Parts: sequence; structure tokens; C-alpha cells
Amino acid sequence: MPHDYLILHGINLNMFGRRDARVYGTATLEDINAALEKEAARLGVTLDIFQSNVEGLMAERIHRALDDGTRGVVINAGAWTHYSYGLLDALNILSVPVVEVHMSHVGAREEFRRHSVIAPACCGSVAGFGVGSYLLGLQALHQVVRERAAG
Ligand code: DQA
Repeated sequence: MPHDYLILHGINLNMFGRRDARVYGTATLEDINAALEKEAARLGVTLDIFQSNVEGLMAERIHRALDDGTRGVVINAGAWTHYSYGLLDALNILSVPVVEVHMSHVGAREEFRRHSVIAPACCGSVAGFGVGSYLLGLQALHQVVRERAAG
């Protein structure tokens, strides 16, 4: 059965729970995915979840979203957020809404984290709320999809 929304986790995000707990907390990627699945069930939608540390594989997963029934995307691109024009171009191919999320408050961290090169391909972003950023991002995406469907 096709999914409704695609959740994308980029480079190094498989290491959540084992990297800088003061910044990212202790939740693992599995914990985050379980929380997302619970929220998706509450919203009555289904998810496809993908993580890669390889930029080309991430681009190819985005390309497949053109034809696999994906109705919207939540992406935490990790450090790619700040420099990957390849991911920006890939996301720009999609016509479904894309929401950018970050566990940490990227706007309040190092200078290089304050800029997102993928932001122009996204309808909005949520950052700084830990696992909550993903859940808020999913809720926001669902709202945008429903608004667009209602015309
Ligand atoms: C991050 C923020 C990025 O700057 C960083 O490179 C990450 C994680 C976040 O979720 O807060 O890997 O995307």
C-alpha cells in the first residue's frame, strides 16, 4: 500500500542518541521514527521513512517520490542542509510540499548552521524542539496538504 508522507533523515542522523546529547538529546533515530509513526496513526496517515549518509542515495530517494504516491515530505537533511545544492535541486523537482526540520535550534548555533540552502524548496521549517520538531513538522505538513487539497 502506498504511503502518504515521506520522512527523510540525512547524513549522521542514524547516530542520534550517540552524538552530543546536550545538543540533540538522547533519543535514537528508532525512537524518533516510533514517535513519528504514533503521530501519523493519530493523524490517520501512513509514512515511508528513509535515512542515508550517502547524498546520491538521498537524491535518488527524492526522485522516486515523484512516482510513488508521496503526498508530502518532512526532511532533516543534517549538515547537507547548509551546503547541498544537489539536494536543493532534487527537492525542487517535487511538486508536493516539503517541510524542513531540525532537532536543534540551528538559528542559535554556529554561523554556518544559520543558513539553509534547501529552504527555498520547503514551505516552512521547525527547529529547536528535539523530537518535537519532527512531530510539529509532520503536523504542519498534514495541514498544508489538506489546505492545498481543499483549494
Ligand atoms: C541538525 C542540525 C545540523 O546543523 C547538523 O549538521 C545535524 C543535525 C539537527 O537536527 O539539529 O546533523 O540537522
